[in-house]
Amino acid sequence: MKVKIFLLNKKLNITKEHIKFYNQNGYIVFRNMFKKSEVHTLDKNISYFASKDWHNIMNPDRLEFLLSQSNDKFKKIKKLLDRIKFIEKATETSDLFRSYLVDKRVKNVLEKLLIKKFAGLMTHVIFKHANTKYAKLGWVPHQDNSYAQMKEGAYVTTNLFIHRNTKENGCLYLFPESHKLGLVNFKQYFSYHAKSDQKPGNRVGFDLKKFNKIDLETKAGDYLIMNGNLIHGSYGNFSKNLSRHMLSFNYGVVGKKFNPGITAKRRSTHFS
Ligand SMILES: [Fe+2]
Repeated sequence: MKVKIFLLNKKLNITKEHIKFYNQNGYIVFRNMFKKSEVHTLDKNISYFASKDWHNIMNPDRLEFLLSQSNDKFKKIKKLLDRIKFIEKATETSDLFRSYLVDKRVKNVLEKLLIKKFAGLMTHVIFKHANTKYAKLGWVPHQDNSYAQMKEGAYVTTNLFIHRNTKENGCLYLFPESHKLGLVNFKQYFSYHAKSDQKPGNRVGFDLKKFNKIDLETKAGDYLIMNGNLIHGSYGNFSKNLSRHMLSFNYGVVGKKFNPGITAKRRSTHFS
């Protein structure tokens, strides 16, 4: 099955066709949702805080998460002034990520597509930087809602792609319509904490052959909105020089219960 990518007009109008496609398939991809310059700025900011192995970064929109995950870098800074600069830069970066978590365009698109009010719950950067220790980590088929455990499709994942991504450099694969199963039984496994020889993600314990799996090959600036119950995974990045950075922003319907999670510590950040 070919991946259908939708173009949004300047006003980001959501049409009946968009709503129908999302409800039917459990996902939708919009091209031109964010400018290349914005994507570049987000990437430049967060890449500064990446570890030498380019481990994923959880919740960079929160200063305490960003600082605690870049502590190895911080420890190497000797001068007081340089330490202050590092913390100032971390503050700017977490502010920038939070502004995208509650970006007006996202609010508009989510609310019109799903006809519900949302709040941001967490953010996550998954690098797959070419030729690094964690680049080869492909995620096994899983539902993001196995972590947040919200009812009735109230958990939504959105992914902003920083680079052109293909099967070769670790794109996502999706099982369209699998969201209609609701939250399925799964086996817990390492995700954020997965080591470089482990395939991260809670395991969906059944055969997925009945679904038409698609490889979600997308371009820089493309924006995926996905029902939290849609089963998906990703390939490892085995290319020598093509990095695949991806920013994940996750949302839940306002007022609905969610599991905060021990590591992710999901919490509501409201759109202004
Ligand atoms: Fe996922």
